[in-house]
Amino acid sequence: MYLKKLTLSNFKNHSESDFQFGKRVNCFVGDNGSGKTNILDAIHYLSLSKSYFNKIDSQNIKFNEDFFIIKGDFIKAELQSSIQCSLQKGEQKILKYNGKKYKRFSDHIGSFPIVVISPTDSNIILDGSDVRRKYIDSSIAQYNMQYLKNLIDYNKVLKQRNALLKSFSEKGYFDKLTLETFDDQLIKFGTEIFKERKHFLERLISVFKKYYVIIAGEKEKVNIVYKSQLDEDTFKNVLRNSLSKDRINHYTNVGVHKDDIVFEMNNYLIKKIGSQGQQKSFLIALKLAQFDFLEKQMGFKPTLLLDDIFDKLDDKRIEKIISFAKNEFFGQVFITDTHKERTEIILNKSRIEYTMYKIENGRVI
Ligand SMILES: Nc1ncnc2c1ncn2[C@@H]1O[C@H](COP(=O)(O)OP(=O)(O)O)[C@@H](O)[C@H]1O
Ligand SMILES: [Mg+2]
Repeated sequence: MYLKKLTLSNFKNHSESDFQFGKRVNCFVGDNGSGKTNILDAIHYLSLSKSYFNKIDSQNIKFNEDFFIIKGDFIKAELQSSIQCSLQKGEQKILKYNGKKYKRFSDHIGSFPIVVISPTDSNIILDGSDVRRKYIDSSIAQYNMQYLKNLIDYNKVLKQRNALLKSFSEKGYFDKLTLETFDDQLIKFGTEIFKERKHFLERLISVFKKYYVIIAGEKEKVNIVYKSQLDEDTFKNVLRNSLSKDRINHYTNVGVHKDDIVFEMNNYLIKKIGSQGQQKSFLIALKLAQFDFLEKQMGFKPTLLLDDIFDKLDDKRIEKIISFAKNEFFGQVFITDTHKERTEIILNKSRIEYTMYKIENGRVI
């Protein structure tokens, strides 16, 4: 699978930019703020119908314009598909597959899988558990459409259940039967989500550890631990035990929306003890494991976006990552870098063929 052609209209700082891409390594070089990462983000839109960086779609329309259009032609199994994502100010975002509008964006997720490695990923380590859940969820959703549907349904029922708890307290009554119909739904979707997260992480962890050793050596021991209340008891039981607390808080205190994925180094939180370099290696290993896993699930290689990956990484680690590209571990790769010469030296040294685009002020030079 690869992206052959990309056209941006009024997307962030790009008024009109056109690209023809090579099947393998494509680099965007240019000064800070020139619009390199914005191109990666447009590719992300085509794959997952949203931005990797700014979840407020309307802010991705070029300043003083009223729409953006991102168009891309993908080749998959020798078939060409044209994807278009567009937004007109004040209207709903539109996603089209060969000219046909999607009713639900979730139907598109996974068609053109993607893995991103970006400096902003440090959030996954540093921020709250919701960010890690979102990361795991979006990884699973790319190969398991049912998972995404369960997740959407779970969140809907959760909201309804919380609203019901609130109305019980406001109206001063309690209706056990009505609550139980919501509980049954929550248990059904939640248990499926729990099983799939567990299954995914169990298989991801061993691959992740392997990549960490390749990138950073064996000096420190890393681990990922999936923590869920459903590990201790069935969802039905934990819900029952939490009922009186839930009624006081008007909130569902237990369930997979409380899961965490704990990132450890030498049995401590990597957030607390890992150096920046160790955290960066941890995240790269995690993303490579995700890539590896997705490929095995789908039977083809996801698109890989490497945003400023050469920055703050020593030569040895860069060489390791580039050797993956050289050994055809990756399929199509998009790389951004502020230093044209650095990228050229690294890629030439490894004798990797690449296409390079110089970006200036939201334009291809
Ligand atoms: N909606 C927008 N309209 C116009 N410019 C934007 C918009 N959003 C971001 N930008 C501009 O894009 C630039 C950053 O682009 P980016 O791709 O992140 O740069 P880099 O080349 O450093 O990766 C900034 O100058 C920013 O002002
Ligand atoms: Mg950038």
